[in-house]
Amino acid sequence: MIPASPGKTILVAGGTGFLGSAVVRRLAERGQRVAVLSRSPESVASCFPGLDVEARGGDVTDPSSLPHALRGISALVQAVQFPGSPVEDPSRGRTFMEVDARGTANIVAACAGMGVERIVYLSGLHADPGSTRSGYLAKGMAEETVRNGEPEHVVLRPSWVYGPGDRSLNLFARILRLLPGFFPQLGPGDQRINPVWIGDVAELTAWALASDRAPGSVIEIGGPVVYSMDAIIQTVMDRLGLRKPILHVPVRRPGVPPRELRGQPGRAAQTVPRPGAHALPGGSRPLPAGGAAMTARPPGISTAAVASRAAPARGRRSRTWPQPGKSSR
Ligand SMILES: NC(=O)c1ccc[n+]([C@@H]2O[C@H](COP(=O)([O-])OP(=O)(O)OC[C@H]3O[C@@H](n4cnc5c(N)ncnc54)[C@H](OP(=O)(O)O)[C@@H]3O)[C@@H](O)[C@H]2O)c1
Repeated sequence: MIPASPGKTILVAGGTGFLGSAVVRRLAERGQRVAVLSRSPESVASCFPGLDVEARGGDVTDPSSLPHALRGISALVQAVQFPGSPVEDPSRGRTFMEVDARGTANIVAACAGMGVERIVYLSGLHADPGSTRSGYLAKGMAEETVRNGEPEHVVLRPSWVYGPGDRSLNLFARILRLLPGFFPQLGPGDQRINPVWIGDVAELTAWALASDRAPGSVIEIGGPVVYSMDAIIQTVMDRLGLRKPILHVPVRRPGVPPRELRGQPGRAAQTVPRPGAHALPGGSRPLPAGGAAMTARPPGISTAAVASRAAPARGRRSRTWPQPGKSSR
């Protein structure tokens, strides 16, 4: 049975957020019945003017609030993260462990016996229950919970997502506009990132809800162009018509000696090609030649380079994510 059908309701937890709201819009515009789980249900209608979207109150950290919100739901999109993420505030319960890990466990547990057929979990790259970093650890734990839950599951791991309303690229744009003189880049600026357009993430989520080929998959989603951080900043400057030098501010991870003391040659400063004008932001975003193969490529996702891990058989508990330090692309 396909959960995403007009006669059934899909609940998007985190549907007022950046990713969740794009998913809600995509589904509602296609005639799907959609409900949004929010701690402030009274705010939901104003997020979706002109769209018929039901609001349901609930808090993933409060298990007692969830059964009511899940009534009559055929599928769940879990797109919750704590306010202020990734900066944790333990005094207010705003931590990866409390919201991403325990919150996901609460809502997955609440699905039992409620007739929820499928969960699509919007996780993140590097999710790993063995990680020493709280964000990756909590996402890894949440993925395990989803994998072990009653409904069939799809895990999506987007790279950096950009689009209207994103808080990262727009923050860079604000800093670039405000700061006189130069842009302070933390580190060498050569980290490799392939940002993905929010519309592609929404499309892939809709596919994951509906396709009978999706369940059991862990799918990493990235855009077609790999940028360095410097190239991203340069692209934002180009779009804003700004010309400022990028000043690299050295940062050192605890326990890692500076590069010059490591006795090995440094990496090339610019290890990725300068981005094409078509990639970020907007414009056509073709699949790169020889891009990652997909085992279950959804129709309509022509623009995102998407890597799908082999879908584990339902009920299997084997790890399907890359080991830390191993790249999947
Ligand atoms: N943004 C990216 O670039 C990106 C990239 C990769 C992965 N992701 C993942 O995608 C997911 C969504 O990210 P996002 O950027 O869309 O987040 P976001 O914009 O910060 O939205 C977070 C949502 O979580 C809800 N929420 C927070 N605490 C809650 C609680 N205790 N109970 C119920 N709902 C709660 C909020 O709804 P209310 O305030 O209405 O309750 C809000 O809608 C996260 O898992 C994130 O890690 C994001």
